[in-house]
Amino acid sequence: MSVIFDRNKKIFTLHTKNTTYQMMVDKHNYLLHLYYGARNTGSMDYMVVCADRGFSGNPYVAGNDRTYSLDILPQEYPVLGTGDYRNYALNIENSDGSQCCNLTFSHYEIKKGKYCLKGLPAVWAGEEEADTLEIVLKDVVSNIEVSLLYGVLADADIITRSAVIRNKGNSKVTIKKAAGACLDFFTGDFDMVKFYGRHAMERNVERTPAAHGNISFGSRRGNSSHQYNPAVILADKDTTEDFGDCYGMLFVYSGNFLCQIEKDQMNQTRLIMGLNDDLFSYPLEVNEEFFVPEVILSYSGNGFAELSNRYHSCIRKHVCRGKYVNAVRPVLLNSWEAAYFDFNGDTIVSLAKEAAALGIDMVVMDDGWFGKRNDDSSSLGDWYVNEEKLGCTLAELTERVNSLGVKFGIWIEPEMINEDSDLYREHPDWVIKIEKRTPVRARNQLLLDFSRREVRDNIFGQICAMIEQGNIEYIKWDMNRSMSDIYAGNVTYDYVLGVYDFLEKLTSKYPDILIEGCCGGGGRFDAGMMYYTPQIWCSDNTDAINRTRIQYGSSFFYPVSVVGSHVSAVPNHQTGRVTSLNTRGITAMAGTFGYEMDPALLSKEEKEEVKAQIKTYKQYETLICQGDYYRLSNPFTDGYSAWMFVSDDKKQALVNAVRLEVEGNMAVTYVRPKGLKREAVYIDDTTGKVYTGAALMKSGIPLPFPEAEYEAYQIALTEMETARDLYEKIKQHTGTPDKRTVISIFGGSGCGKTTISSVLNQYFQNDGTGCYVLAGDNYPRRIPKDNDEERLRIYNEKGTEGLREYLGTPDEIEFDRVNKVIEEFKAGKNSITLKKMGRKEGEISYEDTDFSDVRILLIEWTHGGSDFLSGVDLPVYIESTPEDTLKNRLKRNRDKNAGSELIKTVLDIEQEKLLSQAKKARIIVAGNGGIYG
Ligand code: GLA
Repeated sequence: MSVIFDRNKKIFTLHTKNTTYQMMVDKHNYLLHLYYGARNTGSMDYMVVCADRGFSGNPYVAGNDRTYSLDILPQEYPVLGTGDYRNYALNIENSDGSQCCNLTFSHYEIKKGKYCLKGLPAVWAGEEEADTLEIVLKDVVSNIEVSLLYGVLADADIITRSAVIRNKGNSKVTIKKAAGACLDFFTGDFDMVKFYGRHAMERNVERTPAAHGNISFGSRRGNSSHQYNPAVILADKDTTEDFGDCYGMLFVYSGNFLCQIEKDQMNQTRLIMGLNDDLFSYPLEVNEEFFVPEVILSYSGNGFAELSNRYHSCIRKHVCRGKYVNAVRPVLLNSWEAAYFDFNGDTIVSLAKEAAALGIDMVVMDDGWFGKRNDDSSSLGDWYVNEEKLGCTLAELTERVNSLGVKFGIWIEPEMINEDSDLYREHPDWVIKIEKRTPVRARNQLLLDFSRREVRDNIFGQICAMIEQGNIEYIKWDMNRSMSDIYAGNVTYDYVLGVYDFLEKLTSKYPDILIEGCCGGGGRFDAGMMYYTPQIWCSDNTDAINRTRIQYGSSFFYPVSVVGSHVSAVPNHQTGRVTSLNTRGITAMAGTFGYEMDPALLSKEEKEEVKAQIKTYKQYETLICQGDYYRLSNPFTDGYSAWMFVSDDKKQALVNAVRLEVEGNMAVTYVRPKGLKREAVYIDDTTGKVYTGAALMKSGIPLPFPEAEYEAYQIALTEMETARDLYEKIKQHTGTPDKRTVISIFGGSGCGKTTISSVLNQYFQNDGTGCYVLAGDNYPRRIPKDNDEERLRIYNEKGTEGLREYLGTPDEIEFDRVNKVIEEFKAGKNSITLKKMGRKEGEISYEDTDFSDVRILLIEWTHGGSDFLSGVDLPVYIESTPEDTLKNRLKRNRDKNAGSELIKTVLDIEQEKLLSQAKKARIIVAGNGGIYG
């Protein structure tokens, strides 16, 4: 059990794998907060130091003890009107108009599994994954009860908090303020990191001191907003990506919120996250209960990267739901920036044709398909298909699209209404407005009052009727204005619960439809929406360069799998900037990938590039969406933006970088990857270069010199696991070799032996053994590759038998010379002359090589285990088939005649030889990577 209650001291301790949270019921029955941070043992009640503080009063219950004051003590759920003058979590207005609720401990319960919140999204977990602690506090005068709920997800290092307020008294009260969580710190001098912005430029990162006084931010816009995201980090002054203490609070709610940070008179810090008290005043009748939205807490002692990854995996595994969470998402082509309102059915079908040709999975018909909508002035609320505009029914359209092998998705904005709509003409009273006043318009639209069931039911009916008409596999749920004209204190909250209720019904009725959230891009980009929509259009800004910043800010809390990100046309429609398709592709690949343009306008070359991008995205989709995420630069201050994905087992990584600035005579830009295994050796899949994890992480990897501004690069790194296992196996055979050992590694061409050898070389360098790789290619006589004339001549003259006598025999390879090198090496000679052979006679050269401190000579070649070779201690065969070899040769463009009859014969002969040598091998590396011997 991760929740412990010490009955003697009345201390509650919550443990996760790496963190501890502690609180106590004190002598006067108040619930005090003691600790949150790195995993800790023992009771920390000794931290509470009382002293007589002027102008900080004492609760009556303290009698004459002037040292006991709620104004100074750290509390779990501070209430206004109790003698604590700092920011508060709760404010209740009693029926007599007084504002006070003196909460003291009543009882508690510890349960297996994670609590749920009626009508609200919340972290979910299996019975074995979480424990719940419920602490019930009570005001004995009003009989208001507050259940503080704590969900402990031990393995995830997550603690969730929420509260349920119950009116058990006999008169109505009003909730004036309610927070999900409050965290008090005895000590510390913190910075606060918040995410501010605006439409089309969301989640900029700002780090400021959490100084004395109250700093607050939030939303009064009805949604969580573009302007401030409901998330905050409190960090030590010296905390960086990889170092230092930091605490996160993430609100699982999509409406008005308030985050407050206050450093008090005693230099103690209080952090509160909850519902905004502006435009909020919630009546609670007798026997009613009110659920406060949840806050997800996490702590890291190792900087922001660890904190982010905890939130990422919490959102992926415990917030998002439905079949798409871990599924490969469709690559989308959205019609918005391709056509805006100007389209018909044929336009959508043309997009689908382009999509099919490029490998795009789905076409999304955005705004403009319903009512009489041809611009943004009408029809919201009339969710019937404009068949006249489309020129067909929705059923016909989806069929036409599907027949091309492309899925179909559609845009809706259910919460909105235009005054120019049938729905408004019929139900003008369904909008949110204050009686006798004219409402605020935005984008020509008003909000439907989703706090009312009959309003929701009407829209739900309309949307379902539309969905039933065709094969709809995706919905983009938009919300394009902020709320205003709040006519009552319950509306802001009940509206959001109405939206959740609608989404819950929609997702249960259509579990196979993928829903992408949207609110003018990222205006409702929060964990509450992520509970229903596993991806959200991250911003209406598709400019790749701006996006690197928007996505950087988003990454502090939100995983890549929820970030909708598309490649759009250039010049960019929001900024006018021109960036390459490569840059736009790499940037969009830090999200659920898609396109937002008319592909018909692309050149042939660009289309090929798009095809390649989609292939790349699909190849790395799991790594991108489910891997660990690391920020490798700060695009607000650095001249480049870099980020990377690392698989859970750290065997695969994808480093991405976009240049934000170029300069003349530019200094080299080194990007330092993170999260790799220090001891592992990684190969760059494109260049074939190998690096140790330690070198990459310590020294970095140089980016190519830029030839133009905004260039982008992607570096895929794969751990050479086979090579590492082979290294371990070789060590078993050789012990710690103090004597010189000759290893021959052989296998068909393209079987990976060159790479494996270079990685082995790296390992033997690292462990101090010392190694030299003698490659078959340049010593002593090159195995024929493109000098087919000689082979052809032999084949023509002497047939297959002739070739068999030629290939891998002293006719082809100067074994005498190799044998001499081996002999000299084993005899302990330190300067040995090697003969290098290039492709042409003129390239042949001799070289004196220093073998001091080299104890392993690694010969790497196709026929390396030949009978003509003497002195090999350890023959190693890398298994391969002639088919593999042929495939590899063709792929690598090895021979110009790779596909010819002659080469097939050559490969068959090589295979015969390899198989006969394989019998003598002492270690075999199987095709599946297994190592035997
Ligand atoms: C919002 C969305 C866009 C697009 C338009 C359509 O702005 O964020 O992607 O769907 O609405 O009106």
